[in-house]
Amino acid sequence: MTNIIDGKKVALKIRDELALEVSKLRENGITPGLAVVLVGTNPASEVYVRMKKKACQKAGIESYSHELPSNIQQDKLLSLIDNLNNDPKVHGILVQLPLSKHLNESIVINHILPEKDVDGFHPISIGKLLLGEKCFRPCTPAGIMELIDSIGIDPKGKQAVVVGRSNIVGKPVSFMLLERHATLTICHSRTKDLPAEVKRADILIAAIGKANFIKGDWIKEGAVVIDVGMNRTSDGKLVGDVEFETAKDRAGAITPVPGGVGPMTIAMLLKNTVEAAKI
Ligand code: GUN
Repeated sequence: MTNIIDGKKVALKIRDELALEVSKLRENGITPGLAVVLVGTNPASEVYVRMKKKACQKAGIESYSHELPSNIQQDKLLSLIDNLNNDPKVHGILVQLPLSKHLNESIVINHILPEKDVDGFHPISIGKLLLGEKCFRPCTPAGIMELIDSIGIDPKGKQAVVVGRSNIVGKPVSFMLLERHATLTICHSRTKDLPAEVKRADILIAAIGKANFIKGDWIKEGAVVIDVGMNRTSDGKLVGDVEFETAKDRAGAITPVPGGVGPMTIAMLLKNTVEAAKI
């Protein structure tokens, strides 16, 4: 029987544990605080930001919302980040991506103090991850590792294949798998024979952003399949990067879309914020 990994359940357990931890911190006079910065009116970003603020509230974390017009000048955004960097009530700073075209994402992210970089996107955080040092880990990759752990799979010595090399998911999750002693292959749009690479995977991470791109018959029998994709089909359905119906018959364990990786991202953001408050 294939194990359909219930990301909602794993995320809720983490969120419940965090709520307990936050209530103890608050008793000791520490209220974890997250600043959430949204530029413009990208509908998907608005939904994500609303979910993040609601999750903070449920966990007892204070969220400080900053909604800025899409034409905000970069200097104004940087000076807001300066204020947040210096605000002792703010333990974590999240700037929702993507930013408007006229803003330079890397300059903006670089401006966040690494000790408040709960998204784990700052070059210092990514550099420390690469070196195996303690740092805030990007939330989606950290959530993926939690899901793998939740089903009792140890990546050590396994063939892990990551499809996608984004800075947000593909690259950081690759280093986390390597840190856990997996043998790693990173595939991308120029990979010559993707089905052959996928077929070798004991652990497959699909993070390419193309609906149903990875076919069920590419999956090795018994593989762990983590699908990071969130794609809308022409008939409005939300689907992953892996063709779920055919893949689930071959996989040993697989995440559904929705309800797999998605809920874990927010749980890990809360976890990083609580950690930041404890520093
Ligand atoms: N846009 C898509 N995913 C993320 C994320 O995890 N954090 C931020 N800040 N922006 C995103």
